[in-house]
Amino acid sequence: MSMKDRIAIVTGSGSARGIGKAVATELAKRGAIVVIADIHLQGAETVAAEFNDSGYKAVARHLDVTSRESVAALVADIDREFGKIDILVNNAGITRPSRILEITDEEWDLIFAVNMKGVFYCTQAVLPGMIAQRYGRIVNLSSVSGKRGGGVFGGSHYSAAKAGVLGFAKAVAREVAEYGITLNSVTPGLIDTDITGGLMTPERRELLKQEIPAKRLGTAFDVAAAIAFLASEDAGYITGEEIDINGGSHMD
Ligand SMILES: NC(=O)c1ccc[n+]([C@@H]2O[C@H](COP(=O)([O-])OP(=O)(O)OC[C@H]3O[C@@H](n4cnc5c(N)ncnc54)[C@H](O)[C@@H]3O)[C@@H](O)[C@H]2O)c1
Repeated sequence: MSMKDRIAIVTGSGSARGIGKAVATELAKRGAIVVIADIHLQGAETVAAEFNDSGYKAVARHLDVTSRESVAALVADIDREFGKIDILVNNAGITRPSRILEITDEEWDLIFAVNMKGVFYCTQAVLPGMIAQRYGRIVNLSSVSGKRGGGVFGGSHYSAAKAGVLGFAKAVAREVAEYGITLNSVTPGLIDTDITGGLMTPERRELLKQEIPAKRLGTAFDVAAAIAFLASEDAGYITGEEIDINGGSHMD
């Protein structure tokens, strides 16, 4: 599954313990040049420096996925520097554990802007190049919350946005399949990262672990390994699909 000379953008990959960084690591290990793109430029720079010190190839860029201008600027910049984009992983995401009666318009719009509209902006921006080169791999971070509702830490807005990502990916997958472009999504359960770690007491973590058939939380690597496969050349006949990564806690 060599990804030598593939150019990959991973959004939201500047978080030290995040899924995005783990994805970028798996792609870089396979030979891809990885764009560490994050709203927190400093985090992205730290990750990219770490990669380059380890012999991987990476560049850091600022990206706000909620801004069409920011997305367009990043894609133009990477196109200029590397001449193409082969892989996009739509990983940037935020959650809020609000119950339905607490959700304000502002919070609803923010959750949708990052988790759903950001996926639209980034996908739309890379597609012209992918269509022209007749090759592309796009993988989205949805969530088990988007399939069954009631994710542990996401409210109904988060579930709705993550479900929206699945429908969006299927529809676009049909439109671009003939150009050698695939769009797939992963639907992780509870993964141990900052997004979840900050919301868990040690007691709650223990309780949640016991509810998972695998008796452990997922790791960022568990998710990254599946994404690396979907982003590889070998997965060329898989499109519009979803992979559950949840230790058995939800099965379709
Ligand atoms: N951790 C879990 O249990 C879990 C489960 C299912 C799905 N997910 C999804 O996986 C993805 C990664 O989550 P994580 O757990 O690694 O969280 P994380 O908070 O560690 O990483 C999210 C990253 O997105 C970046 N980001 C936020 N807003 C952005 C914006 N507007 N533009 C660009 N970057 C932005 C953050 O700076 C951060 O680096 C998210 O989409 C999340 O919804 C996580």
